[in-house]
Amino acid sequence: MASTHDAARVLVASNRGPVSYEVQGDGSLRAKRGGGGLVSGLSAIGPDAGALWVCSALSDGDREAVRRGVGEDGVRMLDIPAEVHSDAYNGVANSVLWFVHHMLYQTPLEPVFDAAFRRQWENYRRYNLAFAEALAGDAADGAAVLVQDYHLTLVPGMLRELRPDLRIGHFSHTPWAPVDYFRILPDDVAREVLDGMLGADRLGFLTRRWADAFTACSTELAGGLGATEVGVHGLGADADFLRARSHEADVAERMAALRTEIGAGRRTIVRVDRTELSKNIVRGLLAYRHLLQDRPEWRERVVHVAFAYPSRQDLAVYREYTAEVRRLADEINDAFGTPGWTPVVLHVKDDFARSLAAYRLADVALVNPVRDGMNLVAKEVPVVSDEGCALVLSREAGAYEELGEDAIVVNPYDVLATADALHEALTMPPSERAERTKRLAGAATALPPEQWFLEQLRALTA
Ligand code: F6P
Repeated sequence: MASTHDAARVLVASNRGPVSYEVQGDGSLRAKRGGGGLVSGLSAIGPDAGALWVCSALSDGDREAVRRGVGEDGVRMLDIPAEVHSDAYNGVANSVLWFVHHMLYQTPLEPVFDAAFRRQWENYRRYNLAFAEALAGDAADGAAVLVQDYHLTLVPGMLRELRPDLRIGHFSHTPWAPVDYFRILPDDVAREVLDGMLGADRLGFLTRRWADAFTACSTELAGGLGATEVGVHGLGADADFLRARSHEADVAERMAALRTEIGAGRRTIVRVDRTELSKNIVRGLLAYRHLLQDRPEWRERVVHVAFAYPSRQDLAVYREYTAEVRRLADEINDAFGTPGWTPVVLHVKDDFARSLAAYRLADVALVNPVRDGMNLVAKEVPVVSDEGCALVLSREAGAYEELGEDAIVVNPYDVLATADALHEALTMPPSERAERTKRLAGAATALPPEQWFLEQLRALTA
């Protein structure tokens, strides 16, 4: 990657960067590298491509790293004032734009766009401008800039003003709201978001459905797409990485521990999620409770292994949701559990090796989001599964477009139908399960992260 002082030829901008820092007891900083599609995607262009990743400092450790001038080559972390970041990230991005695109509001009471929202919106603008200015300052003539997600919707327009020479792309990792729901936003805010996005040469989405929703919003509310192109790039699972990583020793250890928790001879229904409102973990538990209630033959014979990792705990509604997941899991265990059988094995501490272990031994994977940009768990499980795994999949997940045919598809709001789908999945003959899993793995890996990234870069610079 380029040293941060050279002008960069390929730039990525995202709220969360590829590295984060923690202040240790002795005052030193410990760096932690993250994974994900963008990290492996960017590695595909090689160390000499002149790449720069612009991201925001998120933690106190990150801010300290910026102040001490500690950093990695090819990464520029922006020290945006904490209250500006919090208004932009918690206030606007996660509490408004995320809710709009995932249709999460309980509309009789929320949202309320008042003076506090207007202050947050001002800070969302400031935060976007900080990114646009950093990118404008670091980009070489005619460089390609790939802006990520709903945190940075205003950047393409702002950057276009500052640097008309650049090729600007924006990629949405979330769904896009249908017109009627998008219009919940104050009119001027809706227009500013669309105009900001339309400052890009090219917009990328995970599925045709989200791309069409954006096009409909811009046609209805912003006079059309203008010169902006819209493309679809369905990020796939990274098969090579997953297969190798899931056969390391720590995963085998976690499998042994999980098998003990589950108990011999029992079937497993696995889910792995951030504890995210859109993931629908609570209705998943309700469906499982129905399964145990209505089909008593499954008692003692099945375990719901649910990993629900903490997410966005600054927001009260996420903390409350997390508490509800725990409460319901306890309630099911109290109602149905026996001395030798815990019906729900819930883990809330993020552990990637344990997630892979659960993928390997799952009989059924439950992926039932109310709405999801893609959902990579649905794509990863079939790749990693040892003996084939039946996939119960929400029709509202982006992954449904590619995996729907070989999954057992559910309406995520219908817990009785989800309970039936779990039963069907648990009773699927092993040969059918194995065949479906093979086809699911094929579809899930059609566009690995490296290609996903290169495809966008090529389309942008063509
Ligand atoms: O789906 C959008 C997204 O930004 C993903 O890229 C990521 O998995 C998730 O949300 C994480 O959110 P956060 O950075 O708020 O933890």
